[in-house]
Amino acid sequence: MLAQTPPMGWNSWNTFGWEISDELLRETIDVFVEQGLRDAGYTYIVIDDLWEADRRADGRLTWDTAKFPNGIKPLSDYAHSKDLKFGIYSCAGTHTCGNKPASYGYEEIDALTFAEWGVDFLKYDYCHVPPGVDGPMLFRRMGQALRATGRPIVFSICEWGSNEPWKWGAQAGGHMWRTTGDINDSWESILEIGFKKQAALAPYAGPGRWNDPDMLVVGMYGKGNVAHGGCTDAEYRSHFSLWCLLAAPLMIGCDVRTMNQATRDILLNRELIAVNQDPLGCQGYRVGQVDYAYEIAETWAKPLLDGSIAVGLFNLGEREQRVISVPWEMLGLNPKRPCRVRDLWAGQDLGMMAGSFSVPVDGHDVVMIKLTPHAKRKRTASDD
Ligand code: GLA
Repeated sequence: MLAQTPPMGWNSWNTFGWEISDELLRETIDVFVEQGLRDAGYTYIVIDDLWEADRRADGRLTWDTAKFPNGIKPLSDYAHSKDLKFGIYSCAGTHTCGNKPASYGYEEIDALTFAEWGVDFLKYDYCHVPPGVDGPMLFRRMGQALRATGRPIVFSICEWGSNEPWKWGAQAGGHMWRTTGDINDSWESILEIGFKKQAALAPYAGPGRWNDPDMLVVGMYGKGNVAHGGCTDAEYRSHFSLWCLLAAPLMIGCDVRTMNQATRDILLNRELIAVNQDPLGCQGYRVGQVDYAYEIAETWAKPLLDGSIAVGLFNLGEREQRVISVPWEMLGLNPKRPCRVRDLWAGQDLGMMAGSFSVPVDGHDVVMIKLTPHAKRKRTASDD
């Protein structure tokens, strides 16, 4: 079964747009191994749009030979030789969003081509769909064509939430589906796409079927294709924390060849990744929202398989610091139940606590904790 936990990897779009090449992909693959990204769980190396030639050859999709002189199969082989998986992009319409040939009417042959190339992941977009054609049907067609190849291929539906894909994506064969338009490298975009638009979608996610609020902008710092001013490290930390709580796919979008230490510390935080990859596969949800005159503090919680709960305390306001509290009751916990509290970004145990947890949080920053309820004690008269 594919995508039992949210897929993790890298996609070329956010930073590189049309500036992709065989060399970039190989260098990225090497860095994934050297910097420990692969071993932290980032598996899928995905080429986004603009890898294609302007025309099909003998009815088959083919590549831009200036960018990929060796073709696509050797790249996929290279990824596999390094124990990574390989992904590619096409589109449900006649052309991709970047105006290259796409898969409308060619679903079976394209799925076969991808399978022959050893593709493990297909991102499937939604531009240039002929008028009047039913969108979900086009995704079902490609989902069916992929299954028929017999190769396990993660099917990543990218129709920006247009037809509420969380309701039909899994039946169409999708393992994940974009829930919004494109992210860009700005705090406003993280607020809009992440904090505002995901809260209602939690019930639709689970193992093998994930809501996708788009790829990560962590570490872009205003450089690249979807650059939009960039974010601070605190903002990237909040972005990553929310995506982990949402059980969102973690597709890195920065240039990993030039990552700084802060970016590495975020993307490689094992305790955060463990929250994202928790086998229960429960998407986190907002448990509290406090509006202090347009400045908002939010608390999000994600139940974990072992009975712990991951909690993010976010200060979305501009103000320097505010104290954010989470009472146990908000999380469905008996207020008297002592819990072991661990600060996941600091990697520190904070001790046993009961009733509630309060912490000062800097503006646009987050504190992520894990609460582990203490083993059940005997009922006493005072519990009643
Ligand atoms: C759409 C998608 C993006 C990217 C581009 C490529 O905008 O939403 O993620 O794949 O197309 O052209």
